[in-house]
Amino acid sequence: MSKGKILVAGGTGYIGSHTVVDLIENGFEVVSADNYHNSKASVLDGIEAITGVRVVNHTIDLADPVATAQLFEKHAFDGAIHFAAYKSVGESVDRPLEYYRNNLNSLLNVIDGLRKQKKSNLVFSSSCSVYGNADELPVTEATPRKEAESPYARTKQMGEDILYDFCGRYPDFAAVLLRYFNPAGAHPSGKIGEDAANPASNLVPVITEVGAGKREKLTVFGDDYDTRDGSCVRDYIHVADLAHAHTLALEYLMSGKQTENPALFNLGIGEGLTVLEAIHAFERVSGKSLNYEIGPRRPGDVVAVYADRSKATEVLGWKPRFGVDDIMRTAWNWEEKR
Ligand code: WQD
Repeated sequence: MSKGKILVAGGTGYIGSHTVVDLIENGFEVVSADNYHNSKASVLDGIEAITGVRVVNHTIDLADPVATAQLFEKHAFDGAIHFAAYKSVGESVDRPLEYYRNNLNSLLNVIDGLRKQKKSNLVFSSSCSVYGNADELPVTEATPRKEAESPYARTKQMGEDILYDFCGRYPDFAAVLLRYFNPAGAHPSGKIGEDAANPASNLVPVITEVGAGKREKLTVFGDDYDTRDGSCVRDYIHVADLAHAHTLALEYLMSGKQTENPALFNLGIGEGLTVLEAIHAFERVSGKSLNYEIGPRRPGDVVAVYADRSKATEVLGWKPRFGVDDIMRTAWNWEEKR
């Protein structure tokens, strides 16, 4: 008997696929919906290799209201996790309308479908980018959101606002907002990892591609920021730790213990690392020296952001297991295999 049937919207994506594994390992039945915009069907083989379960993925565009409604008519879900969104800060500056159309419509359609189910438990993939250039560090869940630095960040602020308004109107629609910091690394088994259908733009996969000779060099986007070595500071969190936080968030929703709706949690490990320090961590773990140069700042970047994650530990019982060396080791192991 499973703990419940969960829709993972964006289930073949990077964080989605690792969360599917964690949900199955914790007794849930999982259905995925993903149009492979930034993922590959082959990840289902990796999930099966780890869990022994062949997860079904419905290849639909969740921004399509008809297809999404039909999905919810087919299944009785006990909850849903909504990952399906475009997520590149830089790309969103370049193509804002695609980001608003996709990220907002897919969320609205999932809310519509879930509200018609017997139980409405939604975990929403938000982001630390909603804090903008915060006045205080580390940021807590009470740190005021500031002006978004990119359309991507603004779609996450709007997604949160949509859920605050909707849960206020329909209190029995229970939601959790998870503000991710910088997800990185790969599953310890080496059978799944970041395998985007589009060229990587995030720091860690770019590092491992350069390390593997698949990319000529890494450009550090600016070393003239007001930080300890001039490059930007981020809070890198292992994707397996992040995945498990979703399982805990879902169990929290289904337990009825929720005291705020939506409930909001930061998911970072609470350590700030600069871009240059991340590069050196890779070099230390891989034994390779990385070919990088210093280039101009990237529009949309915040200078520094890292988390106070005590609330997720206290309320959800979340205890991240991995640090930056594990991130680099698993990311490098995955890069060499794929
Ligand atoms: C990190 C740092 C870059 C590439 C991510 C996700 C976003 C959200 C927030 C979850 C920045 C620098 C990068 C390169 C570089 N997470 N960099 N050269 O922008 O913090 O956003 O975290 O929701 O979805 O994308 O991540 O990895 O792109 O950049 O110097 O080739 O690395 O300038 O300082 P970012 P990132």
